[in-house]
Amino acid sequence: MSEPRKILVTSALPYANGSIHLGHMLEYIQTDMWVRFQKHRGNQCIYVCADDAHGSAIMLRAEKEGITPEQLIANVQAEHSADFADFLVDFDNFHSTHAEENRELSSQIYLKLRDAGHIATRSITQYFDPEKKMFLADRFIKGTCPKCGTEDQYGDNCEKCGATYAPTDLKDPKSAISGATPVLKDSQHFFFKLPDFQQMLQTWTRSGTLQDAVANKIAEWLDAGLQQWDISRDAPYFGFEIPDEPGKYFYVWLDAPIGYMASFKNLCNRTPELDFDAFWGKDSTAELYHFIGKDIVNFHALFWPAMLEGAGYRKPTGINVHGYLTVNGQKMSKSRGTFIKARTYLDHLSPEYLRYYYAAKLGRGVDDLDLNLEDFVQKVNSDLVGKVVNIASRCAGFINKGNAGVMVDTNAAPELTEAFLAAAPGIADAYEARDFARAMREIMGLADRANAWIADKAPWSLNKQEGKQDEVQAICATGVNLFRQLVIFLKPVLPLLAADAEAFLNVAPLTWNDHATLLSNHQLNEFKPLMTRIDPVKVQAMTDASKEDLTASQTDTGDAAPAGNGELAKDPLSPEIEFDTFAAVDLRVALIVKAEHVEGADKLLRLTLDIGDEQRNVFSGIKSAYPDPSKLNGRLTMMIANLKPRKMKFGISEGMVMAAGPGGEEIYLLSPDSGAKPGQRIK
Ligand code: MSP
Ligand code: ZN
Repeated sequence: MSEPRKILVTSALPYANGSIHLGHMLEYIQTDMWVRFQKHRGNQCIYVCADDAHGSAIMLRAEKEGITPEQLIANVQAEHSADFADFLVDFDNFHSTHAEENRELSSQIYLKLRDAGHIATRSITQYFDPEKKMFLADRFIKGTCPKCGTEDQYGDNCEKCGATYAPTDLKDPKSAISGATPVLKDSQHFFFKLPDFQQMLQTWTRSGTLQDAVANKIAEWLDAGLQQWDISRDAPYFGFEIPDEPGKYFYVWLDAPIGYMASFKNLCNRTPELDFDAFWGKDSTAELYHFIGKDIVNFHALFWPAMLEGAGYRKPTGINVHGYLTVNGQKMSKSRGTFIKARTYLDHLSPEYLRYYYAAKLGRGVDDLDLNLEDFVQKVNSDLVGKVVNIASRCAGFINKGNAGVMVDTNAAPELTEAFLAAAPGIADAYEARDFARAMREIMGLADRANAWIADKAPWSLNKQEGKQDEVQAICATGVNLFRQLVIFLKPVLPLLAADAEAFLNVAPLTWNDHATLLSNHQLNEFKPLMTRIDPVKVQAMTDASKEDLTASQTDTGDAAPAGNGELAKDPLSPEIEFDTFAAVDLRVALIVKAEHVEGADKLLRLTLDIGDEQRNVFSGIKSAYPDPSKLNGRLTMMIANLKPRKMKFGISEGMVMAAGPGGEEIYLLSPDSGAKPGQRIK
């Protein structure tokens, strides 16, 4: 094994003037999964973040709420921290840019840049609000578009005709803060001389630090030539005053990335074994990665490395850029209820569902990622509940009942455990490359193989035969071992599921290397359901809540489900389910319009079913009991109408009809009392 790596990782610092939503969460979940993977592998990996607390927006919002900016950012930091913790995002430190460490580092970096000649000053003319006595950023000026004449447009571009312009081009300009007519006023500004770093940036951005698409975009900017960057704002401003320049403040984007260092510094100050310089010094051998969204690439891939270089620090090893989140194929929208806050999601659903869905869809590129809510339910239910957890729930009961919970030491599927072992390096490579989608595909491929093997061995049938108990135990112990390996592979994505699985498996916290060993002669703990299916009703409740009050956080409307009856359903093959799971099944009265033989099929009948608003084609294995299918024509039965359509040899089956009995001639199709109508739901 090689030496453990030293890695420092950051996610972008969220603004302290708003709530975290599922778009933000894409970034924090992506980063957290990568960090957890590194720790799982035994590397030293430190993950820091902070709230981005400065700027005029925060100052103005605090004023509106009648509190100080310090109070506002403290409230928001508490809210953000809770959101992240509940989404299992495990920062080593979550700090604030409004902190002493950041003031010191920002001043020091600025002074180094200044003393090295990288700071310029000159006077610029800007709109000034004579009532509020402050300069107005473009978004705080409104007026009539100079091109198309639409009123109430922002100071930099027109939403109607798309024209871009300077705020001084607007007709009839007004301050969006006070409504006063702004006046033009001069003031001295400080600029970072970015063009001094053109050469360095040209090399650095082409040295494997960026994804190709990002490097290409940056190359365009570099070819067009770099401009000096305005890093100062005049008082009143919520931020740090510039050393030796009273009344002048650092622009929020100057001290924000320095907030990465400051958060780490704050962690170092209370962690003696951590050395700040070992990570940030010019000669650092540690790796440094920033995870960001595609909207803030210029700050991270141009300004930031130039600042670091100019101030004598090391530069990042990589900038990892992700795309934007869309929901149901569109931009998140408040009116459609798809602008979903982190807390609103958490009020209705478990964090691991979203973590898995994001993982399953996140590649290493900068493409946008769509959260399709139907696909979300379907994918999570089918992969996590139907494939992964299913393996354990199918096997655990037999070991419990048949062998007092002890796994025997026979490996009933050596080729399969060998295949799992062989798959590990590829899965690790995919994680390392942030190709979570590939990692998930490979893991689910293994889960499919494990399930197919168990289905083929059918321990539930063997268990009814005499003298087959040893075989049953060998199959189930092997099944649990395969499950354990899958849990090891999934642990960076599903830390809670992994912890519950560790409790069931009765093992110490699993690490990546544990995948190479198997449990044998091992006592298990009692099996408890590890994950329940997503109930689509909860997804609906979440979007409804998002539509309602967008500022106050919503709580669940309450759970109407009766408490589970422990007497029922103790058979491991039909474990107890939550009421919600049952309620998610769409049971309907169905009219058999036509029942017919299927050419080439010995067991199946093809049923054409009328469920009120539509007709369904269902293949059903009931031919042995109904040799003359025409007798079924016109009869009512019951069907599961929301079963995922299944592609069969003879066509697609769109649901399932319900029948009882052991099989053969003894199959009894269920039917409702007379009076029931096709399409009625069964409750
Ligand atoms: N405060 C700055 C970052 C400073 S970093 C030194 C900022 N904050 S933010 O709150 O607007 O965004 C935080 C991160 O979330 C950014 O990387 C941003 O790209 C990401 N996202 C915000 N909305 C998003 C989506 N809808 N989809 C995906 N990521 C999104 O920018
Ligand atoms: Zn216009």
